[in-house]
Amino acid sequence: IPVEPFDLVVFGATGDLSERKLLPALYQRQRAGQFSGPTRIIGSSRSELSDDQFRAFAKEAIDTHVAKEHIDEDDLAHFLERLFYVPSDAKSGKGYDNLKRKIGDGAEVRAFYLAVAPGIFGDIVDKIDRHGLATPTSRIIVEKPIGRSLETAREVNETIGRVFDETRVFRIDHYLGKETVQNLMALRFANALYEPLWNSAHIDHVQITVAESVGLEGRAEYYDKAGALRDMVQNHILQLLCLMAMEAPASMDADAVRDEKLKVLRALKPIHPFNAEKLTVRGQYRSGASAGGAVKGYTDELASGVSNTETFVAVKAEIENWRWAGVPFYLRTGKRLAARVSEIVIEFKPIPHSIFGEQAGRVFANQLVIRLQPDEGVKQWLMIKDPGPGGMRLRHVPLDMSFAQAFDVRNPDAYERLIMDVIRGNQTLFMRRDEVEEAWRWIDPIVAAWEERSQNVQGYTAGTWGPSAAIALIERDGRTWHESV
Ligand code: BG6
Repeated sequence: IPVEPFDLVVFGATGDLSERKLLPALYQRQRAGQFSGPTRIIGSSRSELSDDQFRAFAKEAIDTHVAKEHIDEDDLAHFLERLFYVPSDAKSGKGYDNLKRKIGDGAEVRAFYLAVAPGIFGDIVDKIDRHGLATPTSRIIVEKPIGRSLETAREVNETIGRVFDETRVFRIDHYLGKETVQNLMALRFANALYEPLWNSAHIDHVQITVAESVGLEGRAEYYDKAGALRDMVQNHILQLLCLMAMEAPASMDADAVRDEKLKVLRALKPIHPFNAEKLTVRGQYRSGASAGGAVKGYTDELASGVSNTETFVAVKAEIENWRWAGVPFYLRTGKRLAARVSEIVIEFKPIPHSIFGEQAGRVFANQLVIRLQPDEGVKQWLMIKDPGPGGMRLRHVPLDMSFAQAFDVRNPDAYERLIMDVIRGNQTLFMRRDEVEEAWRWIDPIVAAWEERSQNVQGYTAGTWGPSAAIALIERDGRTWHESV
C-alpha cells in the first residue's frame, strides 16, 4: 500500500550508512510500490555534488548492495528521479538556505535523517531550526550511538528535544526492524501456548547471543572508543532482552510497548565493582582464522597498536521482578567469533522425574531457539522416542520452522520497515528517550566497575567463541552455551 508523499532529507547522504543501507532500502520500497506522487529524497552532505552525481552514487550503491534479481531497471530509473542533492555544511550553516529553497512547500510529511557522526547532531539540529527547515510535524531520525554514557546521552536528547518534541523523534535501533525480532512479539503474544510458561516457574535461563565474524571493518576510530558493551549491549542486546522479558502490552501502540520495555530496564539488577568480575567477561580478539582466512588481531588493526577495548563481552544479567527473579539472562556478543549468528535461546526447566531407565538416554530440557540471523527461524527442541523397534531410546529433536523454507519471500532489510514507519508516524519500533537513558543507567556502572577494578580484556583467538572465561561464566552455574552452529 503506498504511503502518502513525503520529503526525506538525508544528512550524510554520501556516507557509509546511506550507501550500504538507506539508499538500497529506499529503492526496495520504491520497487514495492510504496512511494506515491511527488515523494522526494534529498541528499545532503559537505561533498559538492550535483543531482546527477548523487544519482550516480545511489545507482552504484544499489548495484553493489542489492542482489541482481531484485533490481528492476524501470523501478530503478523511477527511484533515481526522486533523488536530489544539496551540499550543506552543518558547522557554518552554508547551504541550508538552498536546502530550504529546494524543499519549498514540499510534501506534508517531512523527515530529516541524521546519517552522520553524533558529534554533529547538535549543529545540524541547530541549523534546521535557524533556517526554518522544520515544520510543526517534521520528524527527525537518529542512529546510535546516542551518547556514550547516561550523561552524554542526556545531552544528545536535550539538543534534539529543543527543536523536535518526543513524538517526532525516531531513534533507530535497527535490530527492532529485523523480521525475526518483530516475530518475537508475534510468537509471544499471538500464541496462547508459551505465555503461561514464560516465567521463572518454567524457564531455567535465557541466552542471547549476537556473534559476528567480521572485525573492525575500518571503523577503528569509533569502535576503539566504544567497545562491545556500548556498541551492542546498551542497545541491540538490551532491546532483545526487553522484548523477550516484558509483560504483555495492552496493544501494539508505541507507548504501550515502550512502557513495558522500560519496566524491564528498570528492573535490571545493577552490577557493581564488587561483583563485576564474576558477572562480566571482557575479551579482545588476537590473530587467528576467520571466514576461511588468516586475520589480524584487534590491536594490529589499530594505528596505535595498543588498546584495552573489548571486542567481546559476556554478561550474566538478572531481572528483579516477579516474573523473572532467579532466571539468569546470559548475554554475549563479539567480533571475529566462530560464526555470524544471532539467537535467543529459552531453556525450560528439566522434567521433575524421569520414568525412563538409564538405557533410554539423557532427557534434555526443552529449548526454544529463536534464530534472528542468518537462517531466520524458530526451533522448539523436544524429546521423542527414537523411531524403530529398538526399545525405548529417547532423542532430542527440533520442531523446526525455517522461515526461508516456510515463506518464499525476500527477507526485507530492517531499514525498509523502519523508514516507512517514520513516514507513517509509527514509533512502536523506535526507542523512546527514557529507554535509551535507562539502558545507560545500567551500563554506566559496569564501565565504571571495569575501570575501578582495572578489569582488563582477555585475549581470544579470532574464529573462536571468545575467551574461556565466557564459557566458565555459564558453566559455573551448571549450564552451557547453546551450540549455535
Ligand atoms: C551495529 C554495530 O549497530 O550493528 C556494529 O555498530 C555491528 O558494530 C552491527 O556490526 C551488527 O548489525 P547486523 O545487522 O549486521 O547484525
